[in-house]
Amino acid sequence: MSTPSRPSESHSGSPLPEAGNTPRAETPSIKSYVRRQGKITTGQRRALAEEAHRWVVPFEGKPLSLATLFKNSRPVVLEIGFGMGETTQAIAQSQPELNFLGIEVYTAGVGSLLNRITQANLSNVRIIQHDAVEVIDQAIELSSLDAVYIFFPDPWHKKRHHKRRLIQAGFAALVASRLKPGGILHCATDWEPYAQQMLDVLSDCPLLCNTSQGYSPRPSYRPLTKFESRGLRLGHSVADLVFSRRLPSPPSQTASSSK
Ligand SMILES: C[S@@+](CC[C@H](N)C(=O)[O-])C[C@H]1O[C@@H](n2cnc3c(N)ncnc32)[C@H](O)[C@@H]1O
Repeated sequence: MSTPSRPSESHSGSPLPEAGNTPRAETPSIKSYVRRQGKITTGQRRALAEEAHRWVVPFEGKPLSLATLFKNSRPVVLEIGFGMGETTQAIAQSQPELNFLGIEVYTAGVGSLLNRITQANLSNVRIIQHDAVEVIDQAIELSSLDAVYIFFPDPWHKKRHHKRRLIQAGFAALVASRLKPGGILHCATDWEPYAQQMLDVLSDCPLLCNTSQGYSPRPSYRPLTKFESRGLRLGHSVADLVFSRRLPSPPSQTASSSK
């Protein structure tokens, strides 16, 4: 799978936490989105009516079997907030050997991705239309994901809205707990203050390890979107952050020598 190369040495020196759902008290509650009605095009409406039953998975608030969902045991990449699905389609098309689970709350976006799935004849994409925080907490098993992508999450520019940003300590810990050891968390943003917050939060997460010194070069699997190309023309820079989940520590010498 062409996720970025993983660091050869990422042991934390301490064992990973025990498996088990994130305790409810630690689960972050983040109002990271506004319910947008937006205009739903005729094509999106048709896709929602005719295609949703094939690719949209209902959120039931209980653990989901990814192998049953995709009918295979290939690596699974979870994408949070896929918007209109432009990037999801490009990545899923170029990497048919991977499964992609996209989470988005925006109905027009779900309709758009359904259209893309049909047009590109994709079979490796599934969609959940629900709050990603609840989905990850309640439906995704511990250590089950090969990668999580969060591209251009809402930056919530105003200071009083910063608490609505997705990338904060509790959420980073939640996402990291769902990655397999060595699995990748890849975030991208064009809002410099948010990039700095992401770097601080992810660097402080005990389960994660930066694959670069600071920001990463854009991995080749992440295509440039129209939105991003326009931003780059206007002189906005984009930061990619690629972290991996730490590998479990090897058994300590004391434990083995005392046998
Ligand atoms: C700024 S858009 C970026 C869309 C896309 N990733 C891109 O690069 O064009 C952020 C998207 O994240 C979605 N979103 C925000 N918080 C979410 C959450 N908690 N669960 C699911 N989707 C969320 C929003 O509805 C919106 O479509």
